Amino acid sequence: MNLRERIRERTQPIYFLGQNPITLTGAVVTTSTALTTIAFWFYDIFLPGPPHPYIGLLVFLILPGIFVLGLLLIPLGIWLRRRSLRESGELPAVFPAIDLALPVVRRTLEYVTAATVLNLLIIATASYRGVAYMDSTTFCGKTCHTVMDPEYTAYQNSPHAHVDCVACHIGPGAGWFVRSKLSGLRQVFAVTFHTYSRPVPSPVKYLRPARETCEQCHWPQRFTGDKFLVNTSYKDDEKNTPQTDVLLLKVGGRTWQGSVGIHGRHLADMARIRYISTDPERQTIPAVYYTDDKGKTTEFISTDAKPTKEQLDKGEHRVMDCVDCHNRPTHAFDLPDNAVDKAMSLGRISPELPYIRKKAVEVLKVEYPARDVAEHRIKEEINNFYRTNYPQIYETRRTVVEQAGDEVARIYLRNIFPDMRVTWGVHPNNLGHNDSPGCFRCHDGSHTSADGQIITNDCSACHSLLAVQEENPKVLTDVGMK
Ligand code: HEC
Ligand code: HEC
Ligand code: HEC
Ligand code: HEC
Ligand code: HEC
Repeated sequence: MNLRERIRERTQPIYFLGQNPITLTGAVVTTSTALTTIAFWFYDIFLPGPPHPYIGLLVFLILPGIFVLGLLLIPLGIWLRRRSLRESGELPAVFPAIDLALPVVRRTLEYVTAATVLNLLIIATASYRGVAYMDSTTFCGKTCHTVMDPEYTAYQNSPHAHVDCVACHIGPGAGWFVRSKLSGLRQVFAVTFHTYSRPVPSPVKYLRPARETCEQCHWPQRFTGDKFLVNTSYKDDEKNTPQTDVLLLKVGGRTWQGSVGIHGRHLADMARIRYISTDPERQTIPAVYYTDDKGKTTEFISTDAKPTKEQLDKGEHRVMDCVDCHNRPTHAFDLPDNAVDKAMSLGRISPELPYIRKKAVEVLKVEYPARDVAEHRIKEEINNFYRTNYPQIYETRRTVVEQAGDEVARIYLRNIFPDMRVTWGVHPNNLGHNDSPGCFRCHDGSHTSADGQIITNDCSACHSLLAVQEENPKVLTDVGMK
């Protein structure tokens, strides 16, 4: 039998059995979704910027899904027809011949072959584009917009606003990719059936080790040297008296003296510090294990918490990495006082408006029923305050007052999401010790080893305090900053 005859023999049953409503529907569905998908791809190429999240969902996930469904209908129809014919005893022993001499038949076969090749190409491209789309910031941040709104908003106002969500949350490599897609599927169900937690819980349980995410861009070896930190806050008096902290943070890193300072002592080449936490947010850390350069491990147990063996066994065991200090590198939510201080020192809220610091913090701490109500009421409150109490300022410096009101409302909108139950202080920041325990989860002076060593809480281990809450720190004049 030559090739031609063999092909004919194989195609005869398909051609015969393929003439059933299911297979034909499959062919129509496949062809029409293929054409629509391709048209959208062109549209997307010429579109400036990423597509609207719902269009993306349609073009990159739903249409290709229907396309594959259509493809599956084709063999399904053939199989069903064959089965029903066989059951009723009507399956022909010899299928009607295909007469390749007939132009109609020949053209049909050519068409089917070409369509199959094209379909394979479309499936390959669609899978690739679907995956790329699911990794895009638009998909992660905007598709389920209420759910991701808090994280996405904070992200857009952070130093990482141009880093893709997946660079931190998934990282490179196939294993984590599959793992994240499986957990993504669960999340899609949670969103569809509204069973997700509000707020979205943090820490992220299965966040990939920072070595494989953060360290793709930041090399810990690179940080050496101290960091000069100037932080101004304001009193609640009429003059909004400024109080400035100036400190030299001993960030450290790798130096000729070995690994020193904040970075160096926690992260060297090996996993230096392990700990056990006993609450879901990792805020209570009763036991810490430190391995020194010689490989000796010291156990520090909190004499305040006095954990039982059972508590320690049940707790979460973790190797310390970047995220244990930098847990808010991009989803940085503020507290009202800090946010107002920051806006005032940047001049977005003028410190020259009497009592502005007190008033701003006060209106931010009120509970409002919804975000749009809050925005309106905050602006109104600030404006009314000056109209009533300082009419002259309101007359002469109206735009400054309005700007302040707008900025206070923006602070609210960046931080509070009632739908997701994200309010002030829901996500503590572990980098420091002033607003939440942070470094003091371990450096509280109570974590003691069997031989009496203590994880230091000496103020000068981490920073030199050059000025604390001074109105006009002399050190700033000395270094030429004032
Ligand atoms: C610079 C790295 C980085 C980028 C970029 C990033 N994240 Fe995160 N994300 C984190 C870290 C770190 C946490 C907290 C992890 C922890 O504490 O275990 C987190 C936590 C979260 C959480 C849990 C809730 C919370 O606030 O802790 C959500 C949801 C989230 N991220 C969504 C996103 C989305 C959506 C994007 C993109 C718009 C994104 N992330 C981009 C690092 C990042
Ligand atoms: C894809 C690259 C990339 C990844 C991944 C990444 N970062 Fe960054 N990060 C940057 C860039 C770029 C900047 C500098 C932004 C700037 O200077 O405005 C930055 C800035 C920072 C800063 C300084 C912020 C500041 O206030 O100036 C910290 C801290 C930081 N990253 C921590 C992290 C941590 C922790 C992770 C992992 C959870 C991480 N980064 C992951 C690119 C990355
Ligand atoms: C023990 C806590 C701790 C750990 C662990 C830690 N950092 Fe830091 N890091 C700090 C502190 C504190 C600062 C200075 C704080 C500030 O800028 O306000 C800092 C500063 C930085 C900066 C900004 C440096 C600059 O000059 O502005 C980057 C970037 C950074 N860290 C990245 C990382 C990365 C990446 C890792 C993991 C490899 C890491 N850090 C691990 C505490 C830590
Ligand atoms: C999980 C526990 C833990 C957390 C959280 C933690 N540290 Fe540490 N830190 C340690 C341990 C353990 C040591 C080593 C103790 C020793 O040297 O005896 C250490 C050592 C240090 C040292 C060196 C002290 C010295 O005398 O040389 C500095 C500086 C430091 N930490 C700063 C910080 C800062 C800043 C933060 C918060 C951003 C922080 N640490 C958060 C556990 C922790
Ligand atoms: C384990 C390290 C560590 C120890 C010990 C420590 N601090 Fe700090 N402290 C920090 C870090 C890190 C920051 C910076 C946080 C940031 O980036 O905003 C900070 C910030 C501060 C600030 C500035 C706050 C601001 O935002 O203006 C003051 C004031 C301060 N510390 C006082 C103290 C005093 C007083 C002690 C001693 C009782 C002390 N600290 C002990 C790590 C430490």
